Amino acid sequence: MNWPGLLQYYKDYLPINENTPILTLHEGNTPLIHFSNLSNKLGIELYGKVEGINPTGSFKDRGMVLAVAKAIEGGSKTVICASTGNTSASAAAYAAKAGINAWIVIPKGKVAMGKLAQAIMYGAKIVEIEGNFDDALQMVQKVSKTTPITLVNSVNPYRLEGQKTAAFEICDTLGKSPDILSIPVGNAGNISAYWKGFKEYDEKNNTGLPQIFGFEAEGAAAITKDTVIQEPETIATAIRIGNPASWHLAVDARDESNGMIDAVSDEQIQEAFQLLAKTEGVFAEPASCASIAGIIEQCKLGNIPSGSKVVAVLTGNGLKDPQTAIDSSHIESFSLPNDEETVTSFLKNEVLK
Ligand code: F0G
Repeated sequence: MNWPGLLQYYKDYLPINENTPILTLHEGNTPLIHFSNLSNKLGIELYGKVEGINPTGSFKDRGMVLAVAKAIEGGSKTVICASTGNTSASAAAYAAKAGINAWIVIPKGKVAMGKLAQAIMYGAKIVEIEGNFDDALQMVQKVSKTTPITLVNSVNPYRLEGQKTAAFEICDTLGKSPDILSIPVGNAGNISAYWKGFKEYDEKNNTGLPQIFGFEAEGAAAITKDTVIQEPETIATAIRIGNPASWHLAVDARDESNGMIDAVSDEQIQEAFQLLAKTEGVFAEPASCASIAGIIEQCKLGNIPSGSKVVAVLTGNGLKDPQTAIDSSHIESFSLPNDEETVTSFLKNEVLK
């Protein structure tokens, strides 16, 4: 079967009617990979929901396909969003596919290279501001209130509706919900969407509920610290957010699921980033690795019973941010002359070392 995309596959679970265009770039249906090496190391059953496999390389496509479809249904010709990079890449791609315009407002110098390249290639109109994501979000919220432009940030309820489908897929693959879902938290939309998804699927299919463990970056840990962070800072630029829009929904997800929202340091994120690629062969972007860093920390603290089934959401593809990968790696490369004998004997020596 050619996977039909989320709107078609989950139409009974989504706010879709006969006037909603079945837009798709064949998003969703992402792999749930068993992380055997990390599972052994941590004494749990760890899986990764690899959202970097989506059409634009992040989970945003799940919500964006519905938000853009509903915008078209309502007659909109232009969508707008603030973004740390992934939302804008996704909005630009679905707008391109749907034949409408996308305007994006991004924090200057703080968007990873691959994400910027995507927005440019998909033909978005780009506004860079000197401020951060929170400033950009305020601006686009104002603009969309006074113009016929549709806001497609996660304050648009269709975004969370689409994103909740990832929880359905996890339950379908495992046969029921995991014990714990670990997820990076930035603007707090995705954690809220997952919780909604697990609850709805449980009501219909008796799949049970996980504890939700959300992880913010320490320099942008508004919910953890219960205060707005005026100048958020982290290497994980995707979650460099100081005043999350879905703050209260995230707190509800934490409390209703008997879970937690905690912070991980940039060092812990970088360690997890390296470990995931080097032991599991999965290259996820730094922000994504907050979910792995958080689980490692909670295992160390003894907060996760051994044998627990844990799913870590890997929200975006590592190829989006090659600079951070290179800057945070110790690169050992060997420069040799183009001479067969020299190269062969060098390799023999090295390999047999
Ligand atoms: N991981 C990645 C790779 C992200 O791009 C984001 C958010 C998150 C995690 C956090 O998800 O905001 O729902 O809590 N990126 C947004 C953007 C802010 O503009 O692309 P959240």
